[in-house]
Amino acid sequence: KVESTLSITVVGASGDLAKKKIFPALFALFYEDCLPEDFNVFGYARSNMNDNELRDMISRTLTCRIDKRENCEDKMDQFLKRCFYHSGQYNSEEHFAELDKKLKEKEAGKLSNRLYYLSIPPNIFVDAVRCASLRASSANGWTRVIVEKPFGRDSESSGELTRCLKQYLSEDQIFRIDHYLGKELVENLSVLRFSNLVFEPLWSRDYIRNVQFIFSEDFGTEGRGGYFDNYGIIRDIMQNHLLQILALFAMETPVSLDAEDIRNEKVKVLRSMRPLQLEDVIIGQYKGHSKGGRSFPAYVDDPTVPKDSLTPTFAAAALFIHNARWDGVPFLMKAGKALHTKRAEIRVQFRHVPGNLYKRNFGTDLDKATNELVLRVQPDEAIYLKINNKVPGLGMRLDRSDLNLLYRARYPREIPDAYERLLLDAIEGERRLFIRSDELDAAWGLFTPLLKEVEEKKIVPELYPYGSRGPVGAHYLAAKYNVRWGDLSGED
Ligand code: BG6
Repeated sequence: KVESTLSITVVGASGDLAKKKIFPALFALFYEDCLPEDFNVFGYARSNMNDNELRDMISRTLTCRIDKRENCEDKMDQFLKRCFYHSGQYNSEEHFAELDKKLKEKEAGKLSNRLYYLSIPPNIFVDAVRCASLRASSANGWTRVIVEKPFGRDSESSGELTRCLKQYLSEDQIFRIDHYLGKELVENLSVLRFSNLVFEPLWSRDYIRNVQFIFSEDFGTEGRGGYFDNYGIIRDIMQNHLLQILALFAMETPVSLDAEDIRNEKVKVLRSMRPLQLEDVIIGQYKGHSKGGRSFPAYVDDPTVPKDSLTPTFAAAALFIHNARWDGVPFLMKAGKALHTKRAEIRVQFRHVPGNLYKRNFGTDLDKATNELVLRVQPDEAIYLKINNKVPGLGMRLDRSDLNLLYRARYPREIPDAYERLLLDAIEGERRLFIRSDELDAAWGLFTPLLKEVEEKKIVPELYPYGSRGPVGAHYLAAKYNVRWGDLSGED
């Protein structure tokens, strides 16, 4: 058996994402013995740092799982010993050639596989890819590159980025990450649907009246205004994270669990959708607000955001899939920053029971008493089904109860971070959770006309107070399709 080695290079090693997510995820994989025996991690960035300084920086972000404290310190030391730093410019072939030299020293003539994680701003993606692929590709094993969004800001720029990347890499070397696909509950969506008899037969317009994809954060753009202002919430969350979940939710049964089979089905869903219409979208932006003696800033108070910015920090949208399964079913999305809660969930609201015998026995109005299936992606992962139930007692009164699968009660183990799963998949060459270029094109195709219209017409976002439930426009949008957001009984 040929001995092989893996070199992982984090390009943009001193950035926020690298510190918060990538190094900790690599350590967690190492701790779980999921990395190959022989591996090295290189940090690549412009700042002047030596190996020890990098190790010091990384060590501050590593944590041990609550349920796995044994040997953690030892493991950290072992991991840090395998971390090295190389300082260089992102557009310098020469600097990447120097990196190549260092990598070769560590690889010591073995079969070497190389994984690059580009954790850098989009305007330097292509330069870094060019330099890495021309000067620091593996000579005898595979070379893969993980890229993070933004993948352009519309159909044209995304297409251009793909074309440029493909000058240096083949599609199977490019791993476009959408970290929502690595979240436990998102992965479980297909398991729930395709391995339980009770869900799949209901998964259509015959039984489902609407589906909601909700993302909310209880903090603003704090510190990220510079990036965010150029993109806005529709590009930041909807066009990727929420749309990816929608595609998984709505796809037909794939031929198999192979990446290409799954991605073929997802792309079909995206291509069956009509591009978003302006009248089916509402946008908002948070304004300053004080509550209990504390004051919260407006989006435009961020020093990196222009005072007259019209960039949406909130959006709600209604989308439709024109196929036999979903014709006429509204798929609603809502995404916002600086809202009252931090939450990501999928809510499936079912139709009424025709000719319901118990119509008279509901305390609340019957319209609120349809079944609802909720997948709470975060925080506090859970799957619950709202059902109608007899209130115990001699009378016949019905109320709504939950059949509740709360992960922390059922699976006390800590749930791995999405980046752990995705990094592991990239190492193993598993592409199921990464975005193929035709999926990306189809996703941009749905949003680009709308984004252009919003920008050309300079549509003014509805202001909502920091920490609130967002603009009321979102309720009117839902009402237009006879939908109520969130829990039908209005409990949350
Ligand atoms: C990123 C967005 O993709 O996802 C951020 O750019 C957002 O704006 C983040 O805060 C949310 O990710 P998570 O995993 O914390 O929900």
